[in-house]
Amino acid sequence: MYDYLLGGKDNLEIDRDMGDRMLSRAPEIKTLAWFTRSFMLKAVEMAAEAGIRQFLDLGSGIPNSPNVHEVAREIEPSARVVYVDYDPVVRAHCDALLAKPRGVTALLGDVRRPLDILDQLKSQRLMDFGEPVAVTLVSVLHYVMDDEHPAEIIAAFRDQLAPGSYLAITHGSSDSAPEILQVLAGTHDTSAQVSFRSAAQTEAFFAGFELLEPGVVPVQQWLRPGLPETRMVMLGGIGRKP
Ligand SMILES: C[S@@+](CC[C@H](N)C(=O)[O-])C[C@H]1O[C@@H](n2cnc3c(N)ncnc32)[C@H](O)[C@@H]1O
Repeated sequence: MYDYLLGGKDNLEIDRDMGDRMLSRAPEIKTLAWFTRSFMLKAVEMAAEAGIRQFLDLGSGIPNSPNVHEVAREIEPSARVVYVDYDPVVRAHCDALLAKPRGVTALLGDVRRPLDILDQLKSQRLMDFGEPVAVTLVSVLHYVMDDEHPAEIIAAFRDQLAPGSYLAITHGSSDSAPEILQVLAGTHDTSAQVSFRSAAQTEAFFAGFELLEPGVVPVQQWLRPGLPETRMVMLGGIGRKP
């Protein structure tokens, strides 16, 4: 569905139906999907410009150009990128759509089992945890329910990261308009259920990182002044491990 909202062609009828239903209630979510994507690419650019050469995109979704490796490699051609998603359909698309140049890998992994992902990264020598890594969790954590302990997931990755590593998160905000939250409540008890959280809750995910300015704010504010507000609010934040 996210691929459909981003204007991609790798989606199914059921994705388009659900996407159209959401768009009929909140047409601006298409714009928001682009703002969110732009935030992610900006975070990758900032990390690459700060000298980071390894990128771990958790909950990467179906590839949509430009991707993390394309942006990172414009700045540092040798950047290593690992895409991780728990959806085998996404993985199949990654295999088919990414030409997968050397140093770009797609893994099947569930962020709720961070140690399994870390094991794969280490045993396959995909990342050198002695060097900084930029971790992106873009529009993924709101699929992790409170009883699945999202803060502990981030802590498991953080504890492995070298100083200078980056963490970029976007997260659906509980300050979104009530009619939007009502539509989302319809996902309860489905595989697409979401738990939108407050800015304070999202900020708490950056424990152990220094938050970069402007902090955890609607993603538009990371991009440029004057972008329209959206009734569905997506918070974005970038932290640096001291
Ligand atoms: C809204 S999409 C975002 C995709 C991408 N991060 C982006 O911003 O374009 C959410 C993605 O997170 C993945 N996802 C959700 N829960 C996950 C989990 N527990 N482990 C790994 N991936 C997950 C979904 O399969 C989906 O591809």
